[in-house]
Amino acid sequence: MDLWSPLSRLFPAVLLTWTLFALCFQLGCSAANTSTPWPLLDNGLQHTVQWDHYSLLINGERLFLFGGEMHPFRLPVPELWEDILQKIEAMGMRMVSIYTHWGFHAPTPDSVDFRTGAHNLTCFLEMARDVGLYVMVRPGPYINGELSAGGMALWSTTGAYGTLRLNGTAYTHSWTPYQDGIARVTRPFQITENGTVIIFQIENEYGNQWRDMNHKIPNWEAISYVEKLEDNARKNGIVVPLTHNAPNQNGRAWSKDYDTVGAGGDVDIYGLDSYPQCWSCVTSECGSQPPFMPEFQGGAMNPWDGPAGGCQERTGVDFVNFYYRDNIAQRVTMLNLHMIYGGTNWGWLAAPFMGTSYDYSAAISEDRSIGDKFYEIKNLGLFTRVADELAFTDWPAFYVIRHVQTASASEEWFAIKVNTSIGEFYVPKISSAAVLSGNEGKILVADFHFGNQTLYYATAEVLTYSIIDGKEILVLWTPSGRSGEFYLNGATTGTVSSGQSVTFVGSDHGVIVANTQRGGLTVLEFDNGVRIILVDRKTAYKVWVPALTKDPGVPVDQTALVVGPYLVCSATLTGTTIRWNGADLPTTKTNRSTLVATIPQPRTILVPKIVDWKSHDSLPERDPSYSDAGPAWVLANDTTSPNPAFNLNTTTKPYLFADQYGFHTGIRLWRAHFSVPADSTSPPTGVCLSIQGGTAHGWSAYLNGVFLGSWLGDANADTSNPTLPFPANSTLLRGGDNVLLVIHDDTGHDQGSAAVAGTAGASSSPHGTIDALRTRYNEGGLTAERLGWHLPNFNPPSSFWESRSAPSEGFPGPGVRFYRGTLPLHIPRGLDVSLAFRFQPPLDPEQNNNLGYGYRVLLFVNGWQYGRYYPSIASEDTFPVPAGVLDYEGQENMVGLAVGVEVVVRYAVESGFDSKGIEGGYLRGGWEEVRREYA
Ligand SMILES: *[C@@H]1O[C@H](CO)[C@@H](O)[C@H](O)[C@H]1NC(C)=O
Ligand SMILES: *[C@@H]1O[C@H](CO)[C@@H](O)[C@H](O)[C@H]1NC(C)=O
Ligand SMILES: *[C@@H]1O[C@H](CO)[C@@H](O)[C@H](O)[C@H]1NC(C)=O
Ligand SMILES: *[C@@H]1O[C@H](CO)[C@@H](O)[C@H](O)[C@H]1NC(C)=O
Ligand SMILES: *[C@@H]1O[C@H](CO)[C@@H](O)[C@H](O)[C@H]1NC(C)=O
Ligand SMILES: *[C@@H]1O[C@H](CO)[C@@H](O)[C@H](O)[C@H]1NC(C)=O
Repeated sequence: MDLWSPLSRLFPAVLLTWTLFALCFQLGCSAANTSTPWPLLDNGLQHTVQWDHYSLLINGERLFLFGGEMHPFRLPVPELWEDILQKIEAMGMRMVSIYTHWGFHAPTPDSVDFRTGAHNLTCFLEMARDVGLYVMVRPGPYINGELSAGGMALWSTTGAYGTLRLNGTAYTHSWTPYQDGIARVTRPFQITENGTVIIFQIENEYGNQWRDMNHKIPNWEAISYVEKLEDNARKNGIVVPLTHNAPNQNGRAWSKDYDTVGAGGDVDIYGLDSYPQCWSCVTSECGSQPPFMPEFQGGAMNPWDGPAGGCQERTGVDFVNFYYRDNIAQRVTMLNLHMIYGGTNWGWLAAPFMGTSYDYSAAISEDRSIGDKFYEIKNLGLFTRVADELAFTDWPAFYVIRHVQTASASEEWFAIKVNTSIGEFYVPKISSAAVLSGNEGKILVADFHFGNQTLYYATAEVLTYSIIDGKEILVLWTPSGRSGEFYLNGATTGTVSSGQSVTFVGSDHGVIVANTQRGGLTVLEFDNGVRIILVDRKTAYKVWVPALTKDPGVPVDQTALVVGPYLVCSATLTGTTIRWNGADLPTTKTNRSTLVATIPQPRTILVPKIVDWKSHDSLPERDPSYSDAGPAWVLANDTTSPNPAFNLNTTTKPYLFADQYGFHTGIRLWRAHFSVPADSTSPPTGVCLSIQGGTAHGWSAYLNGVFLGSWLGDANADTSNPTLPFPANSTLLRGGDNVLLVIHDDTGHDQGSAAVAGTAGASSSPHGTIDALRTRYNEGGLTAERLGWHLPNFNPPSSFWESRSAPSEGFPGPGVRFYRGTLPLHIPRGLDVSLAFRFQPPLDPEQNNNLGYGYRVLLFVNGWQYGRYYPSIASEDTFPVPAGVLDYEGQENMVGLAVGVEVVVRYAVESGFDSKGIEGGYLRGGWEEVRREYA
C-alpha cells in the first residue's frame, strides 16, 4: 500500500504529468460513483453548519471554503480592516480567519478590553459580515504567531500561574476572563445569530492529546485543559463547530475519528497543516470529517536575520499556482492561507527573533498593496467560488496536472483522457497538445456546469463565470502563447465579436473551439446565447467579479464582471453611468453590450518632509544624582521566585526576573547602588553581568555616569555574560554611593512553554497600563517613553527642547537621545496612499564620518512605536505606517526618536477607499498629566 498511496491519494482528482496518466487510471478508485457512505454530521447544537467526509455545508449547501488569515491587532486602525476584508473578498475567497491576542485584550489579570480602538472585535465581525465573508475565530489562549510569549498575557509569564497551557486552577483562572470575553463578543456574530462566524478554534497546535499515540494512552491533564476551554466556549453561547489545528497529521489531534477509546477533548472538525485525507480507497481508513487545512503556507515570516519582507522569491506566483492547485488535487475542501495579510509587529508584539515587519510575503503586503501574487491567487479563488463540484471530490470533474517533482520546471506537452457524460476520450481533440509550463499546475474541467450550460472539457482554465441578465458569461484563461481548447454543449455555431481569431469545429454535441492565446481579451458569442471570454494570464489578473450581495456564498447570478483596474471591490451602475471611487463616470456602449469607461491616471503625491527637529537627552538615569525614588521604580529585592526557568538554588539573589516585578516589554533600565568602604584595600575593579534578553537583545552599562561598554546584539544570541572592567582612574567612589546603570533592550518572550523565561532585569516602565489604546506592548522604560515624549499631545514649554540639529547628523559618544520632528501632510482626497519611514545611517558631526551601525533606533509616529531599526543585525530599514496613525491632513504629525529618517511614498492609487477619510483623531492622542510622575 505504501507504494500506491501517493498516487491513489491523488486519484481521481489529479493526474500527474501525462506520462503517469495511464498508471494512475489503472489504480482506479471508484471513478464516477457519486453515492456516498458518509453521513451528514453536525454538533447537535445547530444545523446551519454541517459537514461530512467531503466538505462543509452551510444551510445545506456544500461549499469549497477558501480563506485567508489576518490578525486585527497587527493593523491597529479599525478603519483599515475593511480594505483588507474587501481585498480578500475580491480574491474570490469566502472566509477570513483571525487570531485574537490574549495579551493585547487582557492588560491586567482582572480586566479585558474589547472596545478601545483595535480591541473592538465587534467592529471587525460586523465589517466581515457586511463585506460578505465567513469568519473563523481562533482565540488561543496560546496562538504562537511569532509573538512575544505566543500571544499569552505577559503577566501570566512570571511563573505564578503554574504550568501554562495545562489544566491547573491558577492558569485556568488567568485565561477565563479573556475566553469569556472573546466568546461573548463572538456569540451574536455566529451564523446562527446575526453574523458570519462559522468556526471557533480551541487552542493552537496543541498536539498533546496522547501520552503514547500508538497505544492510545491519553494525556489526561491536557485533555482536561482542552475540555475546560471547550466548556467555556459552549457556556458562553458558542454553538458553531469547534476545531483544532495540528501541525502534522501524526498527532491526529483531537479528532473524533481517531479517538476510538473515548479519551475526550475531541473537537467537531479537526484540521491539519498537512495532507489530511484517507490514504487509500479503503473507506474505513478515511475519516468522517472534511479535509481541512487551517494554516496552509501563504508566505514566510521575516526574522531579524532573514530577508526584509520574508521569502518572497520562494513563495511567489509559481508557489501559489502550484501548491494551491495541488491541495485541490489532494481533495482539500477547506483551505485557509496563513497569512493573506501579515501586517506589522508594532511595538513589542513580536517574539525575540522577529523584526518589526510581519509582511510575511503575503498576497496583501504590509502596506496593503497588491501585486501578481494576489492576482494569481485571485485567479484560483474566483474559480473555487463558482466550481461547486470541488466540494464533492469523488466526482471526477477535475483533472489537476502537475509535475511529479515540485522542483521540475520543464515544459510538458500532453494529451489526457477525460471521463465525460458523452464518453471517455483524449483531449485536446483538435489542437496538437496541451502544455504544462514551468512550475505551474493546471486544472482541467470535465462536464463543468455553468448556469444551464455544460463544458464537456476545457484545456484552458476556467477563471469564473457569471450570470448576467439571465445569460451565462464564462471566462477562460491560458498563459500567453499557449493553446486552449474547449467543447461547449448545445451550441451549433459561434462568432468572434472582438479579439483574436479562433477555430470553431462543429461536433455531435456542440462546438469545439481552439485558439492560441496572443494576449488581451477575445469575446465569443454562441448561437445558444452563451458568451465566452478568452484571456491570457495577465489580462485574467485584472478580471474582477464583484459580488452584488453580502451572502458569502456569492450566487453566480449576483455578480458583475469588470476588466481592467488594479482592484475592484464594488461598483454600482445606474442607467449607463458607473459610480466609481465616489465619482460618476460616463460610459460608452460597445457592440457586445458591455460598457466602457475611462478612469484617469492616479495623481502623484509629493514626498513629504519631516521638519522642525528638536531633541532632548533621554538617559538622565546614568547620572548618580538622579533620584530613583519615584513610582516608576520598583525595588528588585525578591529572594523567592515562582519562576521555574532557572535553578533558583544557584541563581544569585535577589532574583532579577523582570516579569515578577511587573515589567514585561521593551527597553528597561536597571539601577544598582553599592558602596565601597573608604579604606578598602581591594575595591571592585569591574562588574560581571548575566543578561538574558531574547535573541537580538542589546545593552549598555554606565558607572556613575561613565560609559562602561555595550553590546549591539546578535540575531542568534539570547544571552550575554560580559565582564566590564571599571576604567582606570575610575569614577568609583570610596565611602559613597556608586550607581551602576544598565540599559537592557529586551526583545521579548519566547513562545510555547519557554514563555516563562526569566529575563534577568527589572525596569523602569510603569506598572499596569496608562495607554489603553496602544497598550503596554507599545512602550518600554526609557525616560522619553515613561514621560510620554513620544505622544502627540505632549507639549512642553519650548525651553524644554535643546535645539540640537536633526537626527541625521547623529550625536557624539554613547547615550540615548529623543528627537522629535513634525511631518505636515496634505494628502488629497479620493486617494489611497501609503507612506513609510526609511532610515539611513547618520553622520557623526564631530568626526564628520559615518557612525556606521553602532546604534539602535525606535521609531514613534503619533505615539505608536512603528519601527525598531537595528542596523547591525537586520536589513529591515523601511517601516510603513498606516493612515489613521498618520493624520493625512495634519500640520502636527509627530515623529519621534528617529535617526536619519526620511519619508517615502509607497503608493498612491485613486480609490473608493479614501485613506484620508479616516477619522483617526482618537488613535493619536494619549498624553496625560499622570505621565509626569514617572520621571
Ligand atoms: C465598536 O464597534 C461597533 C461596531 O462598529 C460600534 O458600534 C461601537 O461603538 C464600537 N465601540 C466602541 C467602544 O468604540
Ligand atoms: C443584525 O444586525 C443588523 C445590522 O447591525 C441590525 O440592524 C439588526 O437589528 C440585527 N438583527 C438582530 C436579530 O440582532
Ligand atoms: C487536571 O487533570 C487531571 C487529570 O485528569 C485531574 O486529575 C485534575 O483534577 C485536573 N485538575 C484540575 C484543577 O482540574
Ligand atoms: C436555466 O433554465 C431554467 C429552467 O428552464 C430557467 O428558468 C433559467 O432562466 C435558465 N437560466 C439561464 C441562465 O438561462
Ligand atoms: C523588598 O523591599 C520592600 C520595600 O522596601 C520591603 O517591604 C520588602 O520586605 C523587601 N523584601 C525583601 C525580601 O527584602
Ligand atoms: C534547592 O535547594 C533545596 C533546599 O536545599 C532542595 O530541596 C532542592 O532540591 C534544590 N533544588 C534544586 C533544583 O537543586
